Amino acid sequence: MRVFVAGASGAIGTRLVPQLIDRGHEVIGTSRSPANAGRLRALGAEPIPLDLLDPRAVREAVLESEPDAIVHQATALANVRFSRNMDRTFAQTNRLRTEGTDALLAAARETGVRRFVAQSFASYRYAREGGPVKTEDDPLDPTPPPVARESNAAMRYLDEAVTAAGGIALRYGGFYGAANDGLVEPVRKRQFPIVGDGEGVSSFIHLDDAAAATVLALEHGESGIYNIVDDEPAPVREWLPVLAEALGAKPPRRVPRWLARLFAGEAVVMMGTEARGASNAKAKRELGWELRYPSWRQGFVAAYSSNPPTDGRRSHAAARTTSHSQT
Ligand SMILES: NC(=O)c1ccc[n+]([C@@H]2O[C@H](COP(=O)([O-])OP(=O)(O)OC[C@H]3O[C@@H](n4cnc5c(N)ncnc54)[C@H](OP(=O)(O)O)[C@@H]3O)[C@@H](O)[C@H]2O)c1
Repeated sequence: MRVFVAGASGAIGTRLVPQLIDRGHEVIGTSRSPANAGRLRALGAEPIPLDLLDPRAVREAVLESEPDAIVHQATALANVRFSRNMDRTFAQTNRLRTEGTDALLAAARETGVRRFVAQSFASYRYAREGGPVKTEDDPLDPTPPPVARESNAAMRYLDEAVTAAGGIALRYGGFYGAANDGLVEPVRKRQFPIVGDGEGVSSFIHLDDAAAATVLALEHGESGIYNIVDDEPAPVREWLPVLAEALGAKPPRRVPRWLARLFAGEAVVMMGTEARGASNAKAKRELGWELRYPSWRQGFVAAYSSNPPTDGRRSHAAARTTSHSQT
């Protein structure tokens, strides 16, 4: 297939492009800078400049590219300043998820493109009731924290618009697998604590596994929503110490809810104490997806053990892995 990837130069896009090419697809990848265009060319894609928030340019780019399929992986999360107001942090990403999705869907309709896959998100979105792990059929949180309402609405908009048009929305877990993953620096600096009892459940996915699932969805997924997460949704109190160890950082601090609410805000308290994780049963069953990193337990070590901590301390997990592999 000739695949048009919007956001091809980002964390997931740069894993996806080589996997698509390996499977024999042709890739047209968008980027807004010559440097990123060069990276895409080196990966084997045909770069095309595009601002997804310019609907006329989106129409022209899709018309000119004549793709068989469109993948929407554009977000605006590089170099954002995280604040307690999630909606402020995600404002541009929310536009890409609403206006950007609309522009791509309109172009797909006009050009008769039938395969459409878009990036959505699984973690922290399911209703905070009942069991800890949710399927795609379970309800979303009807009352997200006020500072995250617009971001939740934008993800819901994308899910609904894409599936109504016959496409696929992939609700990815938290990405990891690159040296500059968002959690790396805060965890190294002990700025990411266990809040309260640490019962909030997170779902993760290694970028390589996320890309593999995306290829399968594109090639033969039925229209609908799929959670693209690993096999082990887990409470913060379990995964955070393992991540800290993999990074060679000191164990995470613990802070009571009231203190976290004061300094970090309601959304962070919700994620740390009440959030639900996601089940990948549907994606495995329907896409025939097999994970290279079924759990963050081995994935964190694989991702970070060759990534020495900045203060020179050695990761215990890395040391264990090295000595194990030498025996
Ligand atoms: N599920 C998750 O946990 C999740 C999801 C997304 C991101 N993240 C994390 O967030 C961090 C930053 O992500 P990232 O490196 O992928 O960067 P990013 O800034 O989120 O960009 C992602 C892609 O979107 C494109 N893009 C941004 N604005 C655009 C626009 N107006 N029009 C068209 N394309 C646009 C970028 O391309 P150009 O700038 O070249 O145009 C890039 O290819 C990473 O650590 C990543 O893992 C996590």
